Amino acid sequence: MKNNPLPRLDTSPGIRDELLPYCRLQLGEVWTDSISGHRVGCLDAADIKAIKDIMAGERAQLAIHDPPYNLAAFEQRSIAAFIDWCRKWVSCTDVVLTPDSSLYVWLGADQNDGFQPLPDFMLMMRDQPFRPRSFITMRNQRGYGTQKNWMAVRQELLYYIKGNPQFNVDAEYTDIPKILRGYYKDVNGKKTENLERSRSDTIRAGNVWIDVQQVFYRMEENVSGCYAQKPLKCIDRIIRASSVPHDLVIDFFAHSGTTLLASEILNRRCFTIDIDPIYAEMTIRRLERFRASGQLGWQNGHPFEADVPKPNIGPAVSPTPTMPVQRTLF
Ligand SMILES: C[S@@+](CC[C@H](N)C(=O)[O-])C[C@H]1O[C@@H](n2cnc3c(N)ncnc32)[C@H](O)[C@@H]1O
Repeated sequence: MKNNPLPRLDTSPGIRDELLPYCRLQLGEVWTDSISGHRVGCLDAADIKAIKDIMAGERAQLAIHDPPYNLAAFEQRSIAAFIDWCRKWVSCTDVVLTPDSSLYVWLGADQNDGFQPLPDFMLMMRDQPFRPRSFITMRNQRGYGTQKNWMAVRQELLYYIKGNPQFNVDAEYTDIPKILRGYYKDVNGKKTENLERSRSDTIRAGNVWIDVQQVFYRMEENVSGCYAQKPLKCIDRIIRASSVPHDLVIDFFAHSGTTLLASEILNRRCFTIDIDPIYAEMTIRRLERFRASGQLGWQNGHPFEADVPKPNIGPAVSPTPTMPVQRTLF
């Protein structure tokens, strides 16, 4: 069986020079998809001019952002500088969302550093024109930690709205069967049990998502080379809950292109950007691969295998023992 994945690009920086010549976008450039009208930019999320350029007067109903988390093992800024930077891309988002729209933000909390930047971000958001709606926790299958602490397995997801956007509750039902019975309530004089009253035989995801498998190398959707790929299932859930077909979805931190691919599958348009030309290229190639083969990623290969079959990986930069390493470019 073929076994030719790329190593994580953040821990193998030497490989970048080999891949860059095959990236069709440089910083400041945008690729437009001639089939579904998606756009992919190699742009800076905090650059309002670049954001207005890619939007070209259009507005989106839904934003799903997964920025770098400013965690200790990553390329870290001071909390104040990180939050100032977040304020900029939140403001860019506000400008290009419709009056009735939703904003989802994935963010981390460093338990070794005052849980930053999550509470700082939440406080900053109080001054923005978005109202908080939910604080979702997604459970990872793998975690990090020691024998002397609770294993860290959560990912935080903040849900904000502007105006009065739709929320499609049907999108929230999981595949987990409802088995608990016995919550009785009178409905029109008749005593009913919870299973009689419910809309579905399965439970709602609620704001703790335990049913999403974290991406790992054995999964078909894996995009080797990436280090922070979100599972398609959680992005699919967000898109179905907070948009309808033909809506426009934006994502300012594309990386492996999960939001673009989920939007394509769900018949939404997506404008997405990454400041790094390699991830912008991977995002485009993932869409193209899906269209050509129906495959969701590169389980045993990699996005550049046609151009650089066996890249010279070079010396690795070691990750810290406790956390995944993320290389960020602000
Ligand atoms: C946590 S990853 C996003 C993961 C993505 N949700 C996925 O499923 O693959 C963050 C991405 O943000 C990009 N990035 C960092 N700073 C940026 C900036 N100022 N503007 C745009 N993208 C940026 C990084 O290159 C990285 O690919």
